[in-house]
Amino acid sequence: MSDMKAPYLDPAVGRYLYAHTTQPDDVLENLILETREAAGDQAVMQITPDEGRFLTMITQLSYARNVIEIGTFTGYSAICLARGLGPGGRLTCFDVSEEWTSIAQRHWEKAGLSDRIELRIGPAAESLRDLPVQHNVDLVFIDADKPNYQTYYDLVMPHLSPGGLILVDNTLWGGRVADPLDGEETTRIMREFNDMVFHDDRVTSVMLPIADGLTLIRKH
Ligand SMILES: C[S@@+](CC[C@H](N)C(=O)[O-])C[C@H]1O[C@@H](n2cnc3c(N)ncnc32)[C@H](O)[C@@H]1O
Repeated sequence: MSDMKAPYLDPAVGRYLYAHTTQPDDVLENLILETREAAGDQAVMQITPDEGRFLTMITQLSYARNVIEIGTFTGYSAICLARGLGPGGRLTCFDVSEEWTSIAQRHWEKAGLSDRIELRIGPAAESLRDLPVQHNVDLVFIDADKPNYQTYYDLVMPHLSPGGLILVDNTLWGGRVADPLDGEETTRIMREFNDMVFHDDRVTSVMLPIADGLTLIRKH
């Protein structure tokens, strides 16, 4: 599966990586199936199981307690983030779609995670502007509309604790960001975003070839 979102990888290597990563449990497997039935072609928006495992592990490893997700869809990445939270940890999810997040909420309930996840429906930029000053966020996962990535980055940065993390999905954009002949609009948006992060001296960053590219950014 992971090779589907990583066309820049040799397909055999992609399958090997996926086969040697802890597989989804029943909760995640059911969500994958229901998302495919409900969303059809749009199910491709769901993160891949290997990326999900990474999100759980990075949340655990960073001891994050206050986590934000921008772009929830049917809730797969939210389950992975929420599972990495320690006691008292909270995940706040932002998404514009009642339809997709109603599926998410049902699966969070089944996963026993509803008490630690809060969902805010509406354009994420507006909701983020309403956050209290100094929200002390430990980890942010950005996986929503690409043209607003820079806006989300700018809006969460003041709330991020020193040492806090931002994870940004789709930063390789199918490998197209590295193709000088590709001038498509989203490719250009992702290139500009990646350049901006690279030149931001408030952070240290690493681009990981997980799924469609995941950038891990640490605020100094
Ligand atoms: C790629 S999907 C997220 C996938 C999700 N992380 C998962 O694991 O399944 C992108 C989501 O961003 C949401 N979205 C798009 N524009 C948005 C906006 N302006 N504000 C908030 N959410 C938005 C869409 O409704 C969609 O659910």
